[in-house]
Amino acid sequence: MTQLIWLITGCSSGFGELLTQHVLSRGDLVIATSRNLEKVQHLDRAGAAILQLDVTHSQQGIDDTVAKAVSIYGRIDVVVNNAAYIVTGGWEDVEYEQLLSQFETNVFGTYKVTRAILPHFRERRSGTMVFISSLSGWHGHPFVGPYAGSKFALEGLVESLSREIAPLGIKTILIEPGRFRTNLLSPGNLQAVPSRISEYMAASQAHLDGLAKEDRTQAGDPRKAVTIIADLVKGEGCALGREVPFRLPLGADCYEGVREKCEGTLKVLEDWGHVIHSTDYDEM
Ligand SMILES: NC(=O)c1ccc[n+]([C@@H]2O[C@H](COP(=O)([O-])OP(=O)(O)OC[C@H]3O[C@@H](n4cnc5c(N)ncnc54)[C@H](OP(=O)(O)O)[C@@H]3O)[C@@H](O)[C@H]2O)c1
Repeated sequence: MTQLIWLITGCSSGFGELLTQHVLSRGDLVIATSRNLEKVQHLDRAGAAILQLDVTHSQQGIDDTVAKAVSIYGRIDVVVNNAAYIVTGGWEDVEYEQLLSQFETNVFGTYKVTRAILPHFRERRSGTMVFISSLSGWHGHPFVGPYAGSKFALEGLVESLSREIAPLGIKTILIEPGRFRTNLLSPGNLQAVPSRISEYMAASQAHLDGLAKEDRTQAGDPRKAVTIIADLVKGEGCALGREVPFRLPLGADCYEGVREKCEGTLKVLEDWGHVIHSTDYDEM
């Protein structure tokens, strides 16, 4: 396969860092971006081009950075919208500004980066957009509202996008990881809002204790995940000769979570079908 040129957001750790290293090892070129260039010097030494990109910057700032990225190798073939973080806390405890910040990074940042690259992809009638969603794009677990809300929003935005750009020859892949061992839950990255409200305190604390226990013990191996992502984009390995789906959960926990949601939804449709079907005008 021809050498691909990747632009990846959020490369200082986790999936972004590992995907950069993995695709370099497969002979592709990478523009690894981070809001702090100090944190991606090792990727520079490994052969990636590095660029400073905070996805919360203005649309103009992001347009300028993406234009600079395109000029490095003359084109971009794959964009991976990976940068995100978690705000976790209850509805009555998380402030509006914290919710807005969550969406600024996970949703609006992704939106801006995607809008910046789309003219380039449209002009070339090719390109692959990869989005990293989550099991939290299927389930709103208690005290995970801000993060789950951001991933549900991303799912809807990206599903629409995929249908708009498929006729132009641009592919979209939405990856939904379950729980993987990255820095996502590390104390510096996770923005945890413990409850101050007596009715929620015990459940909120149990949730936060659970996340602390999960940090760095998650069952998912992110190296395996990034290998699959590269396979899907390149049509190699597990994707060789197969049609790549738009949406792919990753991890046994995500498999179960998605299945449970689908089965539960189908059951509601079966049990309540007569009510659901009863709302059209009689003359229709
Ligand atoms: N690990 C999991 O279990 C899991 C599960 C489902 C989905 N995901 C998704 O996977 C993606 C990557 O997360 P990860 O698990 O690899 O966690 P991670 O190790 O914490 O990496 C997150 C990356 O996002 C970057 N980032 C955060 N805010 C940013 C901003 N405003 N601009 C640019 N970069 C920013 C971080 O950079 P800094 O170092 O500058 O903060 C970091 O490089 C996220 O979309 C996450 O929601 C992860």
